[in-house]
Amino acid sequence: MLVIIKEDYDDMSKEAAKRVASLIRKKPDAVIGFATGGTPVGLYKELIRMHREEGLDFSKITTFNLDEYVGLPPEHPQSYHYFMWENLFKHVNVDPRNVHIPHGMAEDIDAFCEWYEAKIKEKGGIDLQILGIGANGHIAFNEPGSSLGSRTRIKTLTEKTRRDNARFFDNDIEKVPKYAITMGIGTIMEARELLLLASGENKADAIKATVEGPITAMVPATIMQMHRKAVLIIDKAAASKLSQIFTG
Ligand code: F6R
Repeated sequence: MLVIIKEDYDDMSKEAAKRVASLIRKKPDAVIGFATGGTPVGLYKELIRMHREEGLDFSKITTFNLDEYVGLPPEHPQSYHYFMWENLFKHVNVDPRNVHIPHGMAEDIDAFCEWYEAKIKEKGGIDLQILGIGANGHIAFNEPGSSLGSRTRIKTLTEKTRRDNARFFDNDIEKVPKYAITMGIGTIMEARELLLLASGENKADAIKATVEGPITAMVPATIMQMHRKAVLIIDKAAASKLSQIFTG
């Protein structure tokens, strides 16, 4: 695992954007996995800037999002569909036909999940998967205890995650959906490169466990230790509990 520690959120976002942009320039038809949540918003702003000012071309990329709430239609302001279009896709020249986000209103969720997995394979697999991390160590909506070999499926959200996400639902936990469709840990681990971002002190314990702890399904992000190309870009606050920091 490569851990890159940046001064603050802004520097973290810019470093991540540099890496995503460099992939798109090298491989214009790259398959990129996107994440939602507060953490990647700065990365997406920087990518939009690069598109506008430097001509970064998204027209040939294919995208796959990690997850979506069950029961929220794409036009719901808290759906991850809405989030992705508002925060990135509508500001760049991505081809809507190449955008894939789990469908929270799918009638047959199991069939949808199988289709999603097959689609990722059909597109040649994910070149770079962007990830955030939950304070409890979850990646996508793979909560503690999720099978480390899991595939795209429906998951029940923990009380902790629903509480953390209530800030997006008028601070009312009752409004936070109870289920989500999420890529599995096995699915994520098949991406050729993982890029996990974390900012702030409330992520410091999860980052310490991910980098220095034993691999355990109770902290799903620890499986990244087994990935051949996992890069963590974190700010100083998120790195504050690491005991081994080597600079060079
Ligand atoms: C979102 C996702 C989640 C978030 C995580 C951190 O697509 O998969 O795992 O990355 O909950 O969320 P923030 O960035 O809001 O702290």
